[in-house]
Amino acid sequence: MSKSVAIVGISGYLGKPVLEALLEPAFRDNFKLPIRAVSRKAAGTSSEDVEYYEASDIASYEKALKGVDVVIDLRGTAALESNDLAIAAKNAGAKVYIPSEFGLDYSQAGPLKPVFQKKADIVNFAEAQGLKVIQFKVGYFIDSTLQPNWDLLAFADLSHDTADYVGDGSQNLSFNSTKNIGQSVAATISLPYEMIPDVVKIAGDNVTPAKFVELYEKHTGKKVTVNSTTKEQIIQQAQDALSGKLDNGVPAFFYALRGASVAGDGANFKNNNDNELINPGEKYFKWEKIEDYIRKTY
Ligand SMILES: NC(=O)c1ccc[n+]([C@@H]2O[C@H](COP(=O)([O-])OP(=O)(O)OC[C@H]3O[C@@H](n4cnc5c(N)ncnc54)[C@H](OP(=O)(O)O)[C@@H]3O)[C@@H](O)[C@H]2O)c1
Repeated sequence: MSKSVAIVGISGYLGKPVLEALLEPAFRDNFKLPIRAVSRKAAGTSSEDVEYYEASDIASYEKALKGVDVVIDLRGTAALESNDLAIAAKNAGAKVYIPSEFGLDYSQAGPLKPVFQKKADIVNFAEAQGLKVIQFKVGYFIDSTLQPNWDLLAFADLSHDTADYVGDGSQNLSFNSTKNIGQSVAATISLPYEMIPDVVKIAGDNVTPAKFVELYEKHTGKKVTVNSTTKEQIIQQAQDALSGKLDNGVPAFFYALRGASVAGDGANFKNNNDNELINPGEKYFKWEKIEDYIRKTY
């Protein structure tokens, strides 16, 4: 039976890729069209495929979600202050709630775990409401990691051709393009609910910080100066950025993410992922590679 789906927070990084994926020929017959696209301010013109809604509080969310089976929350962290969407999803009769996770397994973030508390609270709250909660753990977005500041997540500062990573830079990090994240969401919710794990981990590509530098040097012809650092220093920098002691224009949250990834192994899904469950043998889509992004970008 086809499922009715709503996307909330359509204007962010993941809105377009998720919407486009739901409408791909491989998936669209699995969903009742139109897909509902919910925004604080209606973000487009409705068609047979997409119906745009304006909503921003429990009552308006509930109205927009009435009769929907699956609610996909793609809102930014500012929206995680409240449980309004999970409450509205439950009241509207939804079965599945996909929280705005799309990052690390922060249960492994050690001293930086409190940074992710709001995400964890929403998961717990939605589960307590009786919703089936599906968390997507995706590591880092390939497409943003090549941007200034975001490259910190790969332990690099490409604007200055430097990198600082722990030891020999051999800790694996998982990356996914936003397109593949959208396709993974579409493929996952196409499955019968009972086949879907509570946590879906995807790893379209896997790169160590040292390999990231090597690929960058290969495609740009530039030389990166690598400073070897320690896990403790990376975590301390994150704590300094969060407390305001370190303020160099890079968002503190990026330092926190980087610190969290070395505190444990929460950005590494290389040998522990659901790629084959949702996209067996790349039946539905090709996993995009960071090297192709580097080649295209530089
Ligand atoms: N792993 C990674 O590398 C990575 C990178 C980036 C983001 N992420 C994750 O991806 C998710 C989306 O992030 P993003 O950067 O796209 O977020 P964002 O740009 O801050 O916000 C996304 C959208 O959410 C809606 N929104 C924002 N604040 C809201 C509020 N207070 N109330 C209601 N709606 C609000 C807006 O959509 P409308 O204007 O349509 O309402 C906005 O365009 C987050 O969970 C984030 O942690 C992960």
